[in-house]
Amino acid sequence: MTSIDPAFATFLVGLPKAELHVHIEGTLEPETIFRLAARNGVALAYESVEALRAAYAFTDLQSFLDIYYAGASVLLTAEDFADMGRAYLARAAADGVIRAEIFFDPQTHTARGVAMATVIEGLTRALDEARAGGMSCDLILCFLRHLSEEDAFATLRAALPFRDAFIGVGLDSSEVGHPPEKFARVFAEARALGLHVVAHAGEEGPPDYIVQALDLLGAERIDHGVRCLEDADLVARLARERVPLTVCPFSNVKLRVCDRLEDHPLRRMLEAGLAVTINSDDPAYFGGQIGANYVQTCAALGLDRAAAARIARTSLEASFVDAATKAGFLARLDAHLAATAGA
Ligand code: ADE
Ligand code: ZN
Repeated sequence: MTSIDPAFATFLVGLPKAELHVHIEGTLEPETIFRLAARNGVALAYESVEALRAAYAFTDLQSFLDIYYAGASVLLTAEDFADMGRAYLARAAADGVIRAEIFFDPQTHTARGVAMATVIEGLTRALDEARAGGMSCDLILCFLRHLSEEDAFATLRAALPFRDAFIGVGLDSSEVGHPPEKFARVFAEARALGLHVVAHAGEEGPPDYIVQALDLLGAERIDHGVRCLEDADLVARLARERVPLTVCPFSNVKLRVCDRLEDHPLRRMLEAGLAVTINSDDPAYFGGQIGANYVQTCAALGLDRAAAARIARTSLEASFVDAATKAGFLARLDAHLAATAGA
């Protein structure tokens, strides 16, 4: 692994930043999975924390998702969801996150008989507490793309009584074979409700899925998007339209989208003029939080303070907040840069 200057690491972790791509279910640490399993009397297929952690040797997205959905099965009560949210938000704040837009997968829970109200009320409890402590945060409801359009419509309707509890919708789970076009009508309904739209595309799926997410879903940001580099016209469009890409370097290495951090396309994406951000995706499964993603990625790719500051700035600019709030975020970033200049 590339050696890292401790002062550079401190600078990167302290950078005021937004996390725009984190699945709350992917923040459940193995110890928490075992604690909640015991609290709720849920049987796990693994004997110990160590045995579970040893199973985190993924070969692709699906091999991860199978374990990720099993891990989420310990979540039953609103307090479970609140505990999970609180733990993530505390870690994020310690990594310089001043704005978090957090994905949740309601179908993973409603399919097990957990009510939509339980999921949203628990998460909202954690977010409200974090807001009271000065963090800016919101939820984005994701549809599982391996399930049907009908199931997605039912999920959106079940969430409508809680319309004010989330700011947008997203699309995640098994990508290949489940193109964005499958959900065009659901996303049209979400847009009509005034919800923001994001979608995972170009993680394992082809560049055309990114085009579909933009043109058929109305996506305002693309989650991952790394495979855009295979299509020069698409890269030019994403750069011209300044479409934010929520890139997740640790995730891409763990799920074998690329072999090593040193080979990650993030640097090439920056050089192509793309609006790149760094995020953790599923930090409990991929080896680190957002701060570690910044530190190790910048070290591995030789990105300097200016490049890292640009990435943090892009993350704040790409967040779904009003103009005054955004200006406040950017002022905090500028103040941090001024205070650390020459340090
Ligand atoms: N759900 C959680 N993490 C995901 C990822 N990286 N891609 C697709 N769906 C996910
Ligand atoms: Zn993701």
